[in-house]
Amino acid sequence: MSGAAVIIPAAGSGTRFGGDLPKQFRELAGKPIVQHVIERFLLDERVAQVIVAVAEPLLAVVRQESSDRVHFVAGGASRLQSVSRGLEAVRDECDIVAVHDAVRPFFATSTFHALLDAAVAAGASFPGLPVTDTIHIVDGSRILSTPERRMLYAAQTPQCFRTAILRDVLARAAQNDDDATDEAGLAARYGYPVALVAGDPMNFKITRPEDLIVAERVFERWSTE
Ligand code: C5P
Repeated sequence: MSGAAVIIPAAGSGTRFGGDLPKQFRELAGKPIVQHVIERFLLDERVAQVIVAVAEPLLAVVRQESSDRVHFVAGGASRLQSVSRGLEAVRDECDIVAVHDAVRPFFATSTFHALLDAAVAAGASFPGLPVTDTIHIVDGSRILSTPERRMLYAAQTPQCFRTAILRDVLARAAQNDDDATDEAGLAARYGYPVALVAGDPMNFKITRPEDLIVAERVFERWSTE
């Protein structure tokens, strides 16, 4: 198998975090969070190319120069558009593409490799974590329904795809003006089988300021292990 390409959509404004700087550029152990993510993928021999979609004014914040393995592209108006821009930069020899959130620095390499293998075999794969909370569908302040918890999985990343499948899914989503918060769900919506690989609670998304406090502690543990 030739190497995989990794697309990191990092062009969001990160409004839930507050402050001027989007959360993916906040520092974790002295470096922007997204930089940790980029460096971890670059250490992986199965990764041929890392493509980061960034809002243009923030390109200078990432202290990482473009090289033959790392490219920065200008992000789009939505997550899907940013991923599509990234996909345009994927080299022909990369037949598998992973899409990874810029704010999940603690993915496990073993899980990533299992996801790559599952995408080769099934076409698409995602890391899913069974939810432990009961989830209600709410309209304003009233419960409308309560889906059965045993069927609910939280979708993490990296989500992996045969490149041709991701291209088709994103083209169809753009045509239908279909927006989505993850690509695995879109692939399933367009009829592709998407394999579930066990996710990892440590691979959490740094979304709110308190997540960053936890992330600093986790990082300390990782660096001393
Ligand atoms: O808002 P949410 O956390 O779901 O955003 C997911 C990812 O999509 C973030 O990493 C964000 O930077 C990225 N994004 C993007 N381009 C946009 C909007 C979001 O790359 N226009």
